[in-house]
Amino acid sequence: MTAKAACSDFLHFFRSWISNPLRVAAIAPSGDSLARIMTSEIAALDGPIIELGPGTGVFTRALLARGIDEADLTLIEYGPEFITALHARFPAARILQMDAAHLAQADIFEGEPVGAVVSGLPLLSMSPRKIASILAGVFTYMRPGGAVYQFTYGPRCPVPRPILDRLGLKAVRIGGTVRNLPPASVYRISRRKPLELTRDRLRYRDDDIEVAAFSGETGG
Ligand SMILES: C[S@@+](CC[C@H](N)C(=O)[O-])C[C@H]1O[C@@H](n2cnc3c(N)ncnc32)[C@H](O)[C@@H]1O
Repeated sequence: MTAKAACSDFLHFFRSWISNPLRVAAIAPSGDSLARIMTSEIAALDGPIIELGPGTGVFTRALLARGIDEADLTLIEYGPEFITALHARFPAARILQMDAAHLAQADIFEGEPVGAVVSGLPLLSMSPRKIASILAGVFTYMRPGGAVYQFTYGPRCPVPRPILDRLGLKAVRIGGTVRNLPPASVYRISRRKPLELTRDRLRYRDDDIEVAAFSGETGG
């Protein structure tokens, strides 16, 4: 990416953050170092890949650089201000403007199960109920052994432990970088053991979930 394009992306992102700080939750797009860690375990043979909250497409570009076929990508972006640029940059990808919390009800995959999910979503600014809906939704599409890759600026996994427990998931920190604004860590979230998440498991009440602090390898 040229310096001019990077500057234009920064301004685009910054304006989005000014108009919707909770949804965008970062003043600048992620850096290349974080994008490399986020995509480091994903290979072309993993099949369909979902990206949640692509923004200006930093992780999308890193996926393509790893040999992922653009046509295998489904990008889920809620912010209308990013959609036109995503279509222009990734014309062969499927781009859906929607809230990632509604994925399960959307029935977006009928064929081959999803191999991995890359998430740039700002989970720290979401309610536990919303985080649970997002994770439960993506795991209904995931093949056995597939994982969600989620970054965070916080000191621990941004998915509360009770949500991991309820969904039968575990989170492992796979890396981090200080060459990002701000520094960030990446977690791999996967099933503890093969299990089918059914639509019944998507029903949550707010009082089902307590937010608890934890760090390192969890839920395993
Ligand atoms: C922290 S930015 C990350 C953008 C990009 N992945 C990056 O790392 O530069 C969060 C992104 O998630 C999107 N987003 C926030 N809530 C969302 C939701 N519920 N569903 C889908 N996208 C969402 C925002 O519009 C924004 O593009």
